[in-house]
Amino acid sequence: MKPSNQAHQTILVVGGTGKTGKRVVDQLKDSGYEVRVGSRSAIPSFDWGNEKSWDPCLTGVTSAYITYSPDLAMPGATDAIQAFVSLAKRRGVKRLVLLSGRGEAEAQACEDIVQESGLEWTIVRASWFNQNFSEGAFIDMVLNGAITLPAGDQVEPFVDVDDIADVAVAALTQDSHSGRIYEVTGPRLMTFADVANDLSRATGREISFIDVPHKSFITDMENSGAPEDVVWMLDYLFATVLDGRNAHLTDGVHQALGRPPKDFAVFAEEVARTGIWEER
Ligand SMILES: NC(=O)c1ccc[n+]([C@@H]2O[C@H](COP(=O)([O-])OP(=O)(O)OC[C@H]3O[C@@H](n4cnc5c(N)ncnc54)[C@H](OP(=O)(O)O)[C@@H]3O)[C@@H](O)[C@H]2O)c1
Repeated sequence: MKPSNQAHQTILVVGGTGKTGKRVVDQLKDSGYEVRVGSRSAIPSFDWGNEKSWDPCLTGVTSAYITYSPDLAMPGATDAIQAFVSLAKRRGVKRLVLLSGRGEAEAQACEDIVQESGLEWTIVRASWFNQNFSEGAFIDMVLNGAITLPAGDQVEPFVDVDDIADVAVAALTQDSHSGRIYEVTGPRLMTFADVANDLSRATGREISFIDVPHKSFITDMENSGAPEDVVWMLDYLFATVLDGRNAHLTDGVHQALGRPPKDFAVFAEEVARTGIWEER
C-alpha cells in the first residue's frame, strides 16, 4: 500500500526516457509514486511538436517535471512551454519543476513562464552534464580516444545528472522547494583537457582533447547526418554559451539537498567500471 502522502499523486515526467528523466522516473517509482513517462516512445505518446498529444498525458496529473528537447533555446520552445503550462494549469496540475540551462536567455524566458504560472514551481538550472560523455552527444569521441570540440581552454563546471535527478525528485515530492531556483553545477571548473585527463585516468587508456575550429566542427556534424536541431543546438552552445559566462561554481545541489555535488572524476570512475567506454 502507498504511504498516504503519495496517495492520489500522479507525476508526469516529460523526457522520462532521457538522461535526467529516466533517473527521476526510477526514483519516483521506487518511492511508490504513480508515474507517467512523457516521450514520443511512451504510451500515450507525448510529442512537443504535436500539441494534441499533450492532453491525454496530463489526465489526472498532480505534478510535472518538464524537460524540453533538444533545448529550451530552440526557436519555438518558449511558445511550446507557454502552451504546455497553460494546458497543465487548466487540467488541474498543481506543481511544475522545470529543467533549465545556465546562461541561456531563451531558457530564462521559459523559466519566467513557469514562475508566472500561478502554480507551485521550482527551477533546476543546470550546467553541462557529465553524462554527455557517457550517454549523450560526446560518447563516440570518448570511444575513439579523442574529444574533438571547439572548446579551447574555456572552463565548464560539469554537473552529474544523478545530482540533478535528486534535486528534481526533492522538488517534486517536498513542499519546501517551492518558489526556489536551484542553479546546479559540479564542484570543479574544468577545461575539456581536464575532462580528457579524468577520462584517461578512469579508463586506463589515452583520451586526448583536440581543439578544433568552430566552423569545421559544425560542418563535420552536418556531414555526419546529425539531426538539424542537434546541429543547431551544438552550434549555439559552443558559439554562444561557452564564452566564459558560466565559468563560475554555484551551490544549488547543496542548497537543495544539504550535500556536495559529485565530482567528474568520481563519475568517470563509476562509468568506467560499467565497461561502456571499453575500446571497440
Ligand atoms: N545535456 C546537457 O549538458 C544539458 C545541460 C543543461 C540543460 N540541459 C537541458 O536538458 C534537457 C534535456 O536534455 P538531455 O540531454 O537530458 O536530453 P536527452 O537525454 O537526449 O533526453 C531527451 C528526452 O526527451 C524526449 N524527447 C526528445 N524529443 C522529443 C519530442 N519532440 N517530444 C517529446 N519528447 C521528446 C526523449 O524521448 P523520445 O526520444 O522517446 O521522445 C527523451 O526522453 C534539454 O532541455 C537541455 O537543454 C541539458
